[in-house]
Amino acid sequence: STGTVAAAAVVKRATLPATPPASEGIDVDEQNLAALASGQPATVTASGFRPNEEGIKVVVYSTPVLLDTVTADASGVATWSGALPAALEDGAHTLTFQGSVDRGLAFTLARATAAIGTCTVEGATLNWGYKESFRTYIEGIAKGGWTLTDVAYRYPDFVWENGAGSLDGTALTGLVTYGGSIAFTGHDGALNTTLGNARVELAGDTGYLVFDVTGTTQAGESVDQQGVRLAEFPLADAAVVDGALRLDAVATTLTEAGAAAFGTYQAGEQLDPVTAVIPVDTACGTAVAEEPEADAGASAAVTAVTEPADTEGAPVWPWIVGGLVVVALAAGGGVLIARRSRTAQAEPETTEG
Ligand code: HEM
Repeated sequence: STGTVAAAAVVKRATLPATPPASEGIDVDEQNLAALASGQPATVTASGFRPNEEGIKVVVYSTPVLLDTVTADASGVATWSGALPAALEDGAHTLTFQGSVDRGLAFTLARATAAIGTCTVEGATLNWGYKESFRTYIEGIAKGGWTLTDVAYRYPDFVWENGAGSLDGTALTGLVTYGGSIAFTGHDGALNTTLGNARVELAGDTGYLVFDVTGTTQAGESVDQQGVRLAEFPLADAAVVDGALRLDAVATTLTEAGAAAFGTYQAGEQLDPVTAVIPVDTACGTAVAEEPEADAGASAAVTAVTEPADTEGAPVWPWIVGGLVVVALAAGGGVLIARRSRTAQAEPETTEG
């Protein structure tokens, strides 16, 4: 009445319902249910939403993990396609769509093998600065810093070592766990966000930087989410070559799940590029690459053949990709994709406000 208008909080609620709001109403055919339950990419749909309704959250339980947001079509049917996070443990889960109505699907996740793929990963490294403007803000305006556990800071990146896990070098699926944590602080404690237990998840076309996110968003909401696919990056031209899968300054963006857990930034926000060297055991297979394409602008398509170590004499056939005949099978052979390489500058270990 005095003419003062309270500013509405525009940041989306980071808090998801603690239990699934629905366990029925998501439609899935047998094939897609089998794929979903084994951790493979699947497509599910649900109806009853408003025509063209936006921002329908796709959330998997028991511990709520936001996977994505989707938009309904003109008939109010929402569709989600994707694979469940590799960090999700086997067992009973409920997939939900949360919008103007809630829909769900109870299923049991049972991955075919305990480890994803046959290639064992050890001694993997990861370099990622999260977001340069955020680091600058922390050190400047926020008068804060970061506390590192089992992570180093070598400007402009946080650096993790000794990542371990497994992957399938052909399907480019896998999970490498680096652990550690970065606790960002500032504004005399008002800013307090920890990115813990770093993982790199490979999911076919797309890779994710996965963290447990705890703390307080800029809007003051407390967050405690496990296994958040915080950042994503394309895996289009990644391959196992010379015993390792290398990511060389690949651009990353904030995911929907990351935006919900961290606050402030919108999904799609540009984050710092990721560099990683993910060595695989020698039994993992031989990289196979075709001639680089004549068109210098196009990136060469490269694939890898995974040779399981102990498959009773079964032949392993090279893949034929995109109509190009794969020729080389010799150990160590392969064409490494040339990319911009970065030189890390050495900087002080930590910052303090
Ligand atoms: C006392 C409370 C706070 C004050 C006064 C404050 C102030 C500010 C200001 C002035 C900016 C703009 C900086 C610029 O334009 O360069 C900013 C940006 C930002 N703040 Fe805060 N903030 C507070 C709390 C928080 C909290 C709790 C978070 C939680 C994560 C947070 C995260 C951010 C982020 C991510 C940015 C954007 C940085 C960038 O990428 O440029 N802030 N804040």
